[in-house]
Amino acid sequence: MTKNQKLLDWVNEWAAICQPDNVYWCDGSEEENQRLMDEMVASGAAVKLDDKKRPGSYAFNSDPSDVARVENRTFICTTKKEDAGPTNNWMAPDEMKAEMLKSYKGCMKGRTMYVIPFSMGPLGSNIAKIGIELTDSAYVVTNMRIMTRMGKAVLDVLGDGEFIPCIHSVGAPLEAGQKDVRWPCASNIDDKFISHFPETNEIWSFGSGYGGNALLGKKCLALRIASSMAKREGWLAEHMLIMGITNPQGEKKYIAAAFPSACGKTNLAMLIPTIPGWKVETVGDDIAWMKFDENGVLRAINPEAGFFGVAPMTSDETNPNAMHSADKNSIFTNVGVTPDGDIWWEGIGWDCPAGTITWKDKVYDPASGDVVAHPNARFTAPAGQCPCIDPAWEDPAGVPISAILFGGRRPSTVPLVYQALSWNHGTFMGSIVGSEVTAAAIGLKAGVRRDPFAMLPFCGYNMGDYFGHWIKIGENAPDKSKLPMIFNVNWFRKSPEGKWLWPGYGENIRVLGWIIDRVMGKVDAVETPIGFVPKKEDINIDGLKGQAELMDELLAVDKNLWLDECELIAEHQAQFGASLPKELKEEYENLKARLQ
Ligand code: OXD
Ligand code: MN
Repeated sequence: MTKNQKLLDWVNEWAAICQPDNVYWCDGSEEENQRLMDEMVASGAAVKLDDKKRPGSYAFNSDPSDVARVENRTFICTTKKEDAGPTNNWMAPDEMKAEMLKSYKGCMKGRTMYVIPFSMGPLGSNIAKIGIELTDSAYVVTNMRIMTRMGKAVLDVLGDGEFIPCIHSVGAPLEAGQKDVRWPCASNIDDKFISHFPETNEIWSFGSGYGGNALLGKKCLALRIASSMAKREGWLAEHMLIMGITNPQGEKKYIAAAFPSACGKTNLAMLIPTIPGWKVETVGDDIAWMKFDENGVLRAINPEAGFFGVAPMTSDETNPNAMHSADKNSIFTNVGVTPDGDIWWEGIGWDCPAGTITWKDKVYDPASGDVVAHPNARFTAPAGQCPCIDPAWEDPAGVPISAILFGGRRPSTVPLVYQALSWNHGTFMGSIVGSEVTAAAIGLKAGVRRDPFAMLPFCGYNMGDYFGHWIKIGENAPDKSKLPMIFNVNWFRKSPEGKWLWPGYGENIRVLGWIIDRVMGKVDAVETPIGFVPKKEDINIDGLKGQAELMDELLAVDKNLWLDECELIAEHQAQFGASLPKELKEEYENLKARLQ
């Protein structure tokens, strides 16, 4: 398959450590995929869905202990602790490797080691990065085939070149004659490690088979390792969707947007506009890699090839484009399987058929109070199947970004939309992104849980240095007049009585419309202490009953609330110590001064 000696040596080295029964090089073909799926159906790991209802699709249930990314077992391993920063778990590289090598020794006994060549970004594009994942999970192989460009073609492009080595094991060796379980993984959370070595661009993952813990191209490579490469090389690897928006005049602009998990990022990326004449097209729903081109335009690619979306609450109402993306050739994990061989989850939009098997492999009993799908159940669907996929989604040159949006769930204080006064002010806005939490919800102190740039779990180095990198990107921009404008949106503002002030979903096009108008210089705005807020007549609310009376409250900037917010921001900034860029301290001081 390859003559790349470094790659061959590396695979041999790891085969000797992990001691699999055999080593298999994935070619990425249809036949290979079918064979692996057939094997997993035969072993009971997968259920083949009905060929008329979900052609080419399969359902898997994970072990109940292995259902999400394990942030408390995710590590950034740098020589100096301060290079990982205050928001990451840290261990020294040598120490981590010594510890993990003990776990990897013999960990693939009784299993196959799959070698997965994959490209993040269009194959052969000069922005793309090639990784090789070694894994003992066929489930990982079949998911990586959807989420990345995978297989022999990648080795052909790689030639003798450099690759990012990614090692993954579910951490469940089989003794001779031992029967496998449906979802092997390490049974003890402390045995799981998702480790990143940004100084040497390596990823070592052990003990989990789920999502971002195991599909190493996504969060591990395309965000944590890529963000640290991007800092060294002067570009941006961000937890952002990318979408194209066309107005009724046919003018098209692309935006990128960062929201913490569970704020409807996939829904926004695939939004169906409710006002006539507008069109939305999707480039990506999770990750953006952005670089300046030779004309000084910031251009973005989606390094992924599929969507790994949260299933519950996805429906023909909330996101028909995501539903259609998963019509066929898709993998479903931890959803319900109906007696007629289709899938079901809470909020799918129709009643649960009697006899549905839940993610815990039981016949659903509505009286039990159990759920059918795990709240973090996922669909893995090819991006090319999305009905609103952008024609340029695979363009190696990327798409030009005119605006960058941040947002979180903020029932109070933060208006529907406001625009940064400058690049540095926009960086400040990104650095204070967060969602309000109640004490009951997650057992934490009530308040604002900050998730700067929605990168808290995904930044591969010191978050303070990351803020500094954003400041530098603005400073070093080849043409500052071409920098994207930065906005903050908040679909989640409520009245003091707890009533939503904005309908959200497809109606968000009305806010995107204002943003596009700002980008094109078509509308003025009101300058407030926090930034530019729309004049209420510039947000199109035609046809939204009762909305006109809510606009003042929705767009209000209450100085007292913002002064309270400043106290929280000061606390948040304090954790970064000396790594907080002076520019962000200044932005904070300036905001406070404008409020007084
Ligand atoms: C994701 C996440 O799964 O951000 O994309 O948690
Ligand atoms: Mn994400």
